[in-house]
Amino acid sequence: MIEVDSLTKRYGRATAVDGVSFRVEKGEILGFLGPNGAGKTTTMRILTCYLPPTQGTARVGGYDVFEQPMEVRRRVGYLPETPPLYPDMEVHDYLDFCAKIKGVAAREREAKVGAAIDKCRVGDVRTTLIGKLSKGYRQRVGVAQAILHNPDVLILDEPTAGLDPKQIIETRELIRGLGGDHTVILSTHILPEVQLTCGRVLIINEGRVVAEDSPENLTRRLKGAGTLRIEVRGEENAVLATVRAVPGILAAHVRGGHDEALVIDVEAEAGRDVRSDLAGAVVTGGHGLLGLQQMGMSLEEIFLHLTTTDETEAAGAAEAKEA
Ligand SMILES: Nc1ncnc2c1ncn2[C@@H]1O[C@H](COP(=O)(O)OP(=O)(O)O)[C@@H](O)[C@H]1O
Ligand SMILES: [Mg+2]
Repeated sequence: MIEVDSLTKRYGRATAVDGVSFRVEKGEILGFLGPNGAGKTTTMRILTCYLPPTQGTARVGGYDVFEQPMEVRRRVGYLPETPPLYPDMEVHDYLDFCAKIKGVAAREREAKVGAAIDKCRVGDVRTTLIGKLSKGYRQRVGVAQAILHNPDVLILDEPTAGLDPKQIIETRELIRGLGGDHTVILSTHILPEVQLTCGRVLIINEGRVVAEDSPENLTRRLKGAGTLRIEVRGEENAVLATVRAVPGILAAHVRGGHDEALVIDVEAEAGRDVRSDLAGAVVTGGHGLLGLQQMGMSLEEIFLHLTTTDETEAAGAAEAKEA
């Protein structure tokens, strides 16, 4: 449904998107995960015909975004980072206005507006001024305007940014419900977001794709990576010697302690889950294991980890981490 080949976008001498290629099959929900400035919005603006690429091609339903923009626009619904909402319009009137702009025929308009209102569950605010809506409702109105003309493809730029936890859950459910009928690309800089909503994830950093996988596989690849924190009762040097002797452990440092327990941060080899060996060694060594915790990784650490294990662009990711 979507085919992107060696897409590059330069702004002057700065390269925002650098040779990105990917495909999205019909009905798939693809997540674009990357930190701010990674090139997510730029890629989406090219796919929605708002920006021409510098190099490479992008096709939607077989139509080239640059050469056949009218055909592409007919098939694509777009929720920009800041949706073009008019605060002085009522929800229903706004959606009717959007349908008009999108060229929905007059006789079909009421039905299409009604369907979008139902799908996005904004029926209870159809006569409310957009300016008076909560952020969660506003975002759903934004999604409603994107699906008005019943496009095959939906492109949603950070659809859950700035929402509270309850609104995030509602928006996620809405998006999951739209997959299947529509082919969806959504962007986010939050890892759990793609894990919960997407069937496949493309991680982009500094304009390049650094990983592409299912959320399950990404989670598996990330498991055991990063820092483990253990809490151990025992004599410091003996405990450290035991921990450092476990295969796959690169470093161990005492971080603190309380009530005769040591808190130790342990760094493991990338891609190796050492938890069970570590716990076994501590106990066999005659120390008391009071706790073992996987510390969460920051998005930067995730990029560094993925790029290092893939042995591609490790240097680039390291720079990104320092920045
Ligand atoms: N109109 C523009 N002019 C110049 N640079 C831009 C413009 N839009 C985006 N950029 C730059 O391109 C890079 C990618 O930006 P963007 O696509 O917005 O990333 P993301 O959506 O992943 O945060 C950033 O370094 C950004 O500063
Ligand atoms: Mg963006």
